Amino acid sequence: MSLEERVNITTGTGNEQGPCEGNTAAAGNLFPALCLNDGPTGLRRAYNTSQFVAGINAAASWDRELTRQRGAEMGREFRAKGVNVILGPGMNMMRTPRAGRNWEFAGEDPYLTGEIAYETVVGLQSSGMITTSKHLIGNEQDTNRYNSSTNMDDKTLHELYLHPFVRALDAETTGIMCSYNMVNGTYACEDDYILNSVLKGELGFKGFVVSDWWATHSTAFAVNSGLDMTMPGDANSQSITGGGLWFGKNLTDAVKNGDVDEDRVTDMATRIVAAWYKVGQDKGFPELNFNYFDSNVGADLDVQGDSKDNIRKQGAASVVLLRNDDDILPLGQDDKVKKIAVIGSDAGADPEGLNQCQDGACSRGTLTQGWGSGSAYLPYLVTPLDGIKDRAGDSVDVVSYLDDWNVDEAAKVASDADIAMVFAKSDSGEMYIVVDDNPGDRNNISLWYNGDELIKAVADANKNTVVVIHSVGPILMPWIDHPNIKAIVWPGLPGQETGNSLADVLFGEVNPSGKLPYTIAKKFDDYLGDIVMELDIEYTEGVNVGYRHFDKYDIEPLYEFGYGLSYTTFDYSGLKVKVSGKGKDAKVTASLKVENTGDVDGADVVQAYLGFPEDAEQPPKMLRGFEKVNIKHGKKQDVKFEFSERDLRVWDTAKQEWVVPSGTFTLYIGASSRDIRLEDTFTL
Ligand code: NOJ
Repeated sequence: MSLEERVNITTGTGNEQGPCEGNTAAAGNLFPALCLNDGPTGLRRAYNTSQFVAGINAAASWDRELTRQRGAEMGREFRAKGVNVILGPGMNMMRTPRAGRNWEFAGEDPYLTGEIAYETVVGLQSSGMITTSKHLIGNEQDTNRYNSSTNMDDKTLHELYLHPFVRALDAETTGIMCSYNMVNGTYACEDDYILNSVLKGELGFKGFVVSDWWATHSTAFAVNSGLDMTMPGDANSQSITGGGLWFGKNLTDAVKNGDVDEDRVTDMATRIVAAWYKVGQDKGFPELNFNYFDSNVGADLDVQGDSKDNIRKQGAASVVLLRNDDDILPLGQDDKVKKIAVIGSDAGADPEGLNQCQDGACSRGTLTQGWGSGSAYLPYLVTPLDGIKDRAGDSVDVVSYLDDWNVDEAAKVASDADIAMVFAKSDSGEMYIVVDDNPGDRNNISLWYNGDELIKAVADANKNTVVVIHSVGPILMPWIDHPNIKAIVWPGLPGQETGNSLADVLFGEVNPSGKLPYTIAKKFDDYLGDIVMELDIEYTEGVNVGYRHFDKYDIEPLYEFGYGLSYTTFDYSGLKVKVSGKGKDAKVTASLKVENTGDVDGADVVQAYLGFPEDAEQPPKMLRGFEKVNIKHGKKQDVKFEFSERDLRVWDTAKQEWVVPSGTFTLYIGASSRDIRLEDTFTL
């Protein structure tokens, strides 16, 4: 290929030039133009494609198999429309519950986020998608994302924020998207340390680095720092630095005048072309049948296939049951329930129809996703009300009142039902759209649209109140002590099958097994951090994010990380720990038995946390393994964990290498981060 052809492969053809959100130029007849599109909840702005459960729900399911299948189905849909590259999956951390894009990611723990990232990448690529795992790195809030600097030490970078990317690399992710923000004062997309030393050096990444949209700020400097593709590729008015066409002709010139080595351009193009071959796009790749700027193009091409089965299953598997007093759920255990009242706009459809708001940026009906580039159209919607009606059958009267504001009327409708289900929501999204005064990041973590008042009014009126919350993340629950609130159900953001997956759990077809991928605090001030308004965002807490912070300062959460009830009970016994090898070769294995001691079959998520030797100055405990096991009632199952160097090491900043600390470790086996059932120590 000529230099110009190689450069074309690395260069976006410009904003809003179509047909996709991002497009590279063809290299003559030698290599095709590539179509890049969001991701990661489904194909953005496309009809007859699916809206999957959100990333945060994949995390809440703690289900590797369903997460891989979700990726595979999503990848199949993208490919069938002729899209080459998915802009995802996302793997930034929930550092503060107010960050608007938390819902696209996988919560507050790097290990869980890493497992979800790994399975998603494997799934997507198994269907022939080029993945761009994002956003590297430190993009934990939307406020000031274009011009702020995330400042963190090297230990925090390696041990926490990098870990999900390491797992994406284990899954052989073909691409990495660098983030808008600076890291320690250098833009992430031209950060030689992050891109060259860490990603391509230490981690041996062989794929390509693509910029987030307009996150490129230079030509030679960015290219020499490790950036391989620029998006969307032009310097239009929206360019955040007012920059210029960074690649394209400017890159060719940079080679000609010696600022960039020609081999580096060959390397950039090779990385992109290699990705295309790696996922098999050289054979039988479908014609592009999609246009990001005109959803009618290719609209008739229905690529949903069987995705809905995965969405319904993972929707149900990610429902977290927070409270179930008097075993009020599941419904339908006897025929005492003759009338169910369903209250709140969050139980119904958007009265204005499906997909009426730009990129999901409104919350008029039930909340199935957040807003922004991570949103996808709904091909159809099974509302909670539909799902409940359908499942309740003809012998149960289901009445509804979907106005959030007239609490007296809501209370009246709720008052004579055997069960009152009250729905409320809390939304967030990306910073380019403001919804209900929320600029992407959440103004606060309270329920929207009078939710607290509605819940109180319904609970005052009905002693069998079931609260259902659709939320992007934690909320405050000022009504938590109301004695009539018998159950709290937390389905997160379940996508198009929301009503079915919820009803599956409410009526006991599926035993709930979802676990919180984040901490729900008693009050907002208990969280370590908040959205930072300054342009320097200091990650001074280091690796003590999420439950690690609550553990360190002994703060009692309302519902802890890893928590979730089941309709059955599990008993853990017989923990055995074995150590073999030394130092970097150390390997620790653990085994235990889990018994389903209740009356129904169910799935449990057995969680393994490690406490490090005191000298290592690590958080009290850190998740280092989990197994989701299906166990029939009355049966036992063996569960095994294996911890290798990856799980036992800490980053030594002075030496710039990983070391396994010597001393006594504690292994905690629990049903949540606070419900530790067994523990043992081992010495390395
Ligand atoms: C900006 C977002 O940060 C990124 O996640 C997305 O892929 C691009 N825009 C393209 O929409």
